[in-house]
Amino acid sequence: MPASDELAERVAALRAEVSEHDRRYHAEDAPTISDAEYDELVRELRRYEEEFPELATPDSPTQQVGAGPSALFTPVRHRQPMMSLDNAFAEPELLAWGERLERRLGAGPDDDPVDYACELKIDGVAISLLYEDGALTQAATRGDGRVGEDVTANVRTIDAVPAVLPAGAPQVLEVRGEVFMGRAAFDALNERQAAAGERLFVNPRNSAAGSLRQKDAAVTSGRELAMWCYQLGEVQGGPRFTRHRETLDFLDELGLPVNPEVAVVPTLAEVHAYCRRWEQHRHDLDYEIDGVVVKVDDLGRRNELGFTSRAPRWAIAYKFPPEERTTKLLGIQVSIGRTGKATPFAQLEPVFVGGANVSQATLHNQDQVRVKDVRPGDTVIVRRAGDVIPEVVGPVVAERPEGLEPWEFPTTCPCPRGSTLVRPEGESDTRCVDLQCPFQLHGSIEHFASRGGLDIEGFGEQRVRLFLDLGLVHDIGDIFSIDWERVRALEGFGETSVANLQAAVEAARSRPLPDLLVGLNIRHLGPAGAQALARAFGHLDRIMAASVEEMAEAEGVGPVIAQAVHEWFADEGHRAVIEKLRAAGVNFTGPERSELPQVLAGASVVVTGTLEGYSREDAEEAIKARGGKSPGSVSKKTTAVVVGEGPGASKVTKAEELGVPLLDEAAFEHLLATGELPG
Ligand code: IVH
Repeated sequence: MPASDELAERVAALRAEVSEHDRRYHAEDAPTISDAEYDELVRELRRYEEEFPELATPDSPTQQVGAGPSALFTPVRHRQPMMSLDNAFAEPELLAWGERLERRLGAGPDDDPVDYACELKIDGVAISLLYEDGALTQAATRGDGRVGEDVTANVRTIDAVPAVLPAGAPQVLEVRGEVFMGRAAFDALNERQAAAGERLFVNPRNSAAGSLRQKDAAVTSGRELAMWCYQLGEVQGGPRFTRHRETLDFLDELGLPVNPEVAVVPTLAEVHAYCRRWEQHRHDLDYEIDGVVVKVDDLGRRNELGFTSRAPRWAIAYKFPPEERTTKLLGIQVSIGRTGKATPFAQLEPVFVGGANVSQATLHNQDQVRVKDVRPGDTVIVRRAGDVIPEVVGPVVAERPEGLEPWEFPTTCPCPRGSTLVRPEGESDTRCVDLQCPFQLHGSIEHFASRGGLDIEGFGEQRVRLFLDLGLVHDIGDIFSIDWERVRALEGFGETSVANLQAAVEAARSRPLPDLLVGLNIRHLGPAGAQALARAFGHLDRIMAASVEEMAEAEGVGPVIAQAVHEWFADEGHRAVIEKLRAAGVNFTGPERSELPQVLAGASVVVTGTLEGYSREDAEEAIKARGGKSPGSVSKKTTAVVVGEGPGASKVTKAEELGVPLLDEAAFEHLLATGELPG
């Protein structure tokens, strides 16, 4: 069936759109859409062109790599073209690529396996370095793949790039790699930009690109750039290689920076495992990666496979799901936290990013909104990376509609009492100072009952709100005197759920003093400080009676905590709460000093299934008595999971996914005795 006129129009429009985005990305370093959205446009265009070849044109952006050189820099013709890579966005595409090339090669896992070199896909700027007689003579950007831009002076300022290679280097050596900016360098750069009132960079890739395209190399020199080399170009007068891995080792020996995470594996299953592992651990690196590049290691086999018109058949880029997308900023509001802190947050047109639908994202504080200059109505870049809460990175200024006003931080609390918001001199946070503020009360009660506090199961956000609204509680002091008869009469509260909640509240009376201290919601006071205070004073009354100096003297309690604790207890309202807790019989003493060595301090060990020598409670007690925590679920922060008979399948799977070690009972006993994990 021939393509309809409508489709032909859509293809032409897509082509124009993609070309424009190419130009903005490559020539201006100022993309207006996220990489993921760009990839989607290209995929759509390519799909139509493949299905209706009559719609394909030689000048389509699907047939090009990047953009031509700008007038700012001298053009450089590459000795060998700098190719782009085809992408795989999910496992099936990766497997299909591998199986196709294995068929072409007549190879497979059982018979003459193909070795795959797996490398991190560095999110930076592709650069070609040329060394002649061991000296760096030229550095060029990729440009359109044939002609790039001469950025030699700028690249010379990068410490990682040697100006001279050791004796014995080939006469001509062309090396390709990625110039990038590490996260720490990027954060530091943006801090300097903010302090100087300059525009913020949206991400490390853009700042690397912008830094390379400076007319004045002194500016580049002040930007901490680095490089990883991943590919050999033309070589004259050097050794012959048969494997990609050998070429990387050779570059490494010449003192060129080669990424240490390269792995050569013989099966597609292992390639996929490498991709999965780095997808989970990408945030452990100090530089950004946006995927994995998989390459056939055998150079002879590469020749057999050859190229398509735009990319080698012997390599593919496996792209991770995007962590940045653009969307519309509908409005900015502030939320009031449990300490009264007012945090501005963005209301967004919902967008799928970092594996979740996001319709709200934090803007951190007043200064951040100002330096980012995001305005309701803007198109903004939203980032959701790993477990980190979603944030607004910045506006796409090129897309800003006319007449948008800068956003003003509100001067009153959004709660019905509408008290004044105050930003103390020299602080970055604005706060609501009204201790009766319902938003604060809500947050503080929720925190009191949370895992970190008195751990009252079933007393979560919604019930706190309901009980507050109904006047069943007014502050944390009321939790132990809730009128359960009234609760029983409420809709949705069955006999069992009330009994459970009541039992959870009862159990909270005897929690250790440090948990109570954390639950009180005192600024700066976390679990470590609470533990230190409880240990030093042994009773809540003694902490309340202590001076700032006395508290600050205790091991592990600094002057900031001491001051905050002292101020908190000096407040009359707070003292009234404490008296309610005392009257309710809440434990104010402890902890008994544990005689055991605290080998698990800072560790978090989850127990699942039945152990022979310990009941579940005993096992958890044994962990806590050694300074560790024993939460009920597995997360990134879990140190190890102890697996007994009949374990929870989801805990084990989660641990495996996250690479958390699984321990049997013997290994658990070893851990308790020494604090060490096996192997
Ligand atoms: S190899 C012909 N290896 O990703 C093969 N590229 O999407 C040339 N990139 O243009 C590229 N890390 O800018 C290769 N380890 C790596 C890479 C890498 C990042 C970039 C490079 C390339 C783009 C392709």
